[in-house]
Amino acid sequence: MTLCEYKPGLEGIPAAQSSISHVDGQKGILEYRGIRIEELAEKSTFLETAYLLIWGQLPSKEELEAFEHEIRYHRRLKYRIRDMMKCFPESGHPMDALQASAAALGLFYSRRDLHNPVYIRDAVVRLMATIPTMVAAFELMRRGNDPVKPRDNLDYAANFLYMLNEKEPDPLAARIFDICLILHVEHTMNASTFSARVTASTLTDPYAVVASAVGTLGGPLHGGANEEVIQMLEEIGTVDNVRPYLEDRLQRKAKIMGFGHRVYKVKDPRANILQSLAEQLFEKFGYDKYYEIAQEVERVMAEKVGSKGIYPNVDFYSGLVYRKMGIPTDLFTPVFAIARVAGWLAHWKEQLAENRIFRPTQIYNGLHEVTYTPIEKR
Ligand code: SDX
Repeated sequence: MTLCEYKPGLEGIPAAQSSISHVDGQKGILEYRGIRIEELAEKSTFLETAYLLIWGQLPSKEELEAFEHEIRYHRRLKYRIRDMMKCFPESGHPMDALQASAAALGLFYSRRDLHNPVYIRDAVVRLMATIPTMVAAFELMRRGNDPVKPRDNLDYAANFLYMLNEKEPDPLAARIFDICLILHVEHTMNASTFSARVTASTLTDPYAVVASAVGTLGGPLHGGANEEVIQMLEEIGTVDNVRPYLEDRLQRKAKIMGFGHRVYKVKDPRANILQSLAEQLFEKFGYDKYYEIAQEVERVMAEKVGSKGIYPNVDFYSGLVYRKMGIPTDLFTPVFAIARVAGWLAHWKEQLAENRIFRPTQIYNGLHEVTYTPIEKR
């Protein structure tokens, strides 16, 4: 076997063959199973898109109804999970709470029947149904309230907003939230999906797969950037402060959150859609001064680093949308996870179909034949 050149961050190295999604980073195109993201955002729902990704084709009416029905009736948390979550410190980050709760779900389903389609279906339904409930429950419990029970007459997106805000959401807000889930559900071999596939390749259970991916998503270079974008906009504070703020940071080689992407060298197509969703929300529910600041950040960044292919990514405008829906800033990344769990599960299923354990190599650059120094001589 010939040795490949070492690429930090595995840039450009294929880690799997996949038919789930495709990105053309030069043209700014994203497709799920061949369908453009713009078309799905306009015509599909999150659960229909999740079905497409996991089972490879759009569901028939009956298949979709059956899937929606199963999800709807598995939304409640086991009381032991709820009691465990009550012991979590309120000051903890909701991503940590989610990771621990998703892993804990595996305690109830220790049997691993990975080649049985019924087992796969049950795991998909359980994880997709309960993760939004976990996110909302932690939020309510840290506020000192009891979690709100899911409502069977609300769809996936509306039910999450209901459990979080303790009131039925406005229909436009619920539809926009559902579109946000579509936009975040899947994105080829990103870090958390890679993590999920590595974990899956050991043939462990799907709860461990999702827990490892949640842990990976939380970092500020990945899904955690959406939270940091809002913090940055707040820190900038005024439109006039945008240019000096960015010049100072760029000069210090600091990263501007919500910008840049390993694959896209143009504006992320999801950022375009999220920007227009933010505008729809502002029109109905009132303006947000941070939107003007964000637009100015985009303008100045294009001028300064556009030639290097650094443009807004998915995390740049999503926070403005979530803010307008009353979602707390540190829940933005858990909300990303609510969507992405379906993408991880699609990759879990695909990995199992042609599994070989991930076991890359390394380039050793340490010492050899070193003699042991007794502790009193060190
Ligand atoms: C997501 O992979 C996916 O698909 C992820 C995702 C998904 O849906 O799963 O799309 C979701 O994670 C979006 C990215 C969220 N992260 C951020 O917004 C954090 C800020 N962005 C970056 O740190 C960075 O752009 C990454 C992490 C997204 C990409 O990192 P790379 O490909 O390793 O690029 P790099 O850090 O090596 O940067 C290359 C150059 C450097 O300049 P030079 O040293 O060559 O002169 O571009 C510059 C960087 O300094 N650069 C930036 C920048 N991003 C890259 N400069 C300022 N601000 C930035 N945001």
